[in-house]
Amino acid sequence: MDRYVVFGNPIGQSKSPFIHTLFARQTGQQMVYEAQLVSLDGFASAATAFFGAGGRGCNITVPFKEQAFAFADRLTERALLAGAVNTLKKLDDGVILGDNTDGAGLVQDLIQHNVPLAGKRVLLVGAGGAARGVILPLLEQKVSELVIANRTQDKAQLLAGSFAQHGAVSSMSFSELGGEVFDVIINSTSASLSGELPGLPAEVIHSQVACYDMVYGSEPTVFTRWCKTHGARVALDGLGMLVGQAAESFMLWRGIRPGAGQVQRELRRVLQ
Ligand code: ATR
Repeated sequence: MDRYVVFGNPIGQSKSPFIHTLFARQTGQQMVYEAQLVSLDGFASAATAFFGAGGRGCNITVPFKEQAFAFADRLTERALLAGAVNTLKKLDDGVILGDNTDGAGLVQDLIQHNVPLAGKRVLLVGAGGAARGVILPLLEQKVSELVIANRTQDKAQLLAGSFAQHGAVSSMSFSELGGEVFDVIINSTSASLSGELPGLPAEVIHSQVACYDMVYGSEPTVFTRWCKTHGARVALDGLGMLVGQAAESFMLWRGIRPGAGQVQRELRRVLQ
């Protein structure tokens, strides 16, 4: 039986075994997918042992995505630009390929919720690893402009600069955002995890804007609630992105794209 695993620390909260087991059932694939807790200094040896014992592929979650980037023999372009790897696959010639499917997961979820990106002006809030991982996939959707804003403005500027040759990316301070109009606002900060708002001026929210929080929980996040309160057309949390990135990993491993909708509904149900 083909074996897959997700490595992380902590790992108990991971929904990946649930998602991939449903994908495998849905597509009739013979495979097992488990979660494995790895000690903070043990990623490389755990991954080496897993692939050495015939493992076919793995997902990598916090805090090992940068270590997985270093572990891979070869990287996809999106992983290279993300600076992090969430998916490893052992190719037929034994090479370990590193990919990053997070941004594709976000894009898939936006499309599934009828949030168009082509020709749209997008605000990306935050300039950490989560932001970096989604920039290239967003630019590939031919957005008209991607503006990055972060509490620490220098980081937004640096991040925008590092993607300059890939499309129209710029940065703004939170205070400059007041008079600006965006079609889509994506919150990549970890603020929601601690029940905080990132600090955007409320004027950026209008009746046509689609808002997305990359964080999810059993309840609507503080950011999605704030967006709705200020009149956003739609405010989505990151559950669909989680399922979308998993679908993209599954596709890389098995060559079959599973349907995300049913799994997303099941996951929402068990979260409650
Ligand atoms: P991740 O890999 O999840 O992106 P990270 O690299 O530590 O984690 O980045 C966290 C991001 O969330 C940063 O953009 C951070 O802003 P700063 O660069 O100013 O620290 C942002 N962030 C976290 N908590 C926040 C808060 N309460 N308000 C605004 N931004 C916050």
